[in-house]
Amino acid sequence: MEKQTLARLRTAKSAGRKFATLTAYDASLARLAEQAGIACLLIGDSLGNVIQGRSSTVPVKIEEMAYHTRCVGRGTRHCFLMADMPFLSYARPEQALANAAELMRAGAHMVKLEGGAWLAETVRQMSERGIPLCAHLGLLPQSAIKLGGYRMQGTAPAAAQQILEDARCLEQAGADMLVLECVPAQLAKTITAALRIPVIGIGAGPHTDSQVLVAYDALGISATPPKFAKNYLAHADSIQAALALYADEVTRGTFPDTAHTLC
Ligand code: KIV
Repeated sequence: MEKQTLARLRTAKSAGRKFATLTAYDASLARLAEQAGIACLLIGDSLGNVIQGRSSTVPVKIEEMAYHTRCVGRGTRHCFLMADMPFLSYARPEQALANAAELMRAGAHMVKLEGGAWLAETVRQMSERGIPLCAHLGLLPQSAIKLGGYRMQGTAPAAAQQILEDARCLEQAGADMLVLECVPAQLAKTITAALRIPVIGIGAGPHTDSQVLVAYDALGISATPPKFAKNYLAHADSIQAALALYADEVTRGTFPDTAHTLC
């Protein structure tokens, strides 16, 4: 695999070529993912759930994100690395700049932030200062306690319109990518077509430019995987083959199928 850059991922979008994204938290899995042809690795704060055994991502600290980003970076030379900014590490622009710098010094090529139009000023300041960043809309796991659980978002017309407007606003402010989590497939399709930046979906149907899964869901390790996730290890005889199958299905556009699309 050639070295993945933001420019390459943007070109993939404009050429209509889908790319695969997977979470990774350590060097060994990062190496296997790279060999499997997965373009983009997300050092997700889902590590709070799957590594630390917590019930939400809220307790995850910036130094833990930096530690896992360094671990993943040692396992890959070619994947594009995106690291989550944890809960309340970007509540104010100056704080966001300092914490993003910590993740980029640890090896992240991009940082990801959860939230809508309220983040526009922070995104603008980060973008102007040269920080590549990914916005995250739809289901926001860091706000799950306030939202009352892990639920599909954007099902009512007004809520769908709000997510579309937030997406446009954050692209305008300087976001370089967007993750859309647990929104209806039709809404994800509309947003993907409306934006120039690559859109990565999770539980958002088949029409986005990329798909991401939590690696522990994709490998059948999670105790309670979401309905949209697929256990690729159940269809392969090794982790390497399972990751290659995932990369292949995403790039060919056959994952998610209807069985793994929520609505
Ligand atoms: O932390 C994570 O794994 C994520 C994905 C759910 C997109 O943000």
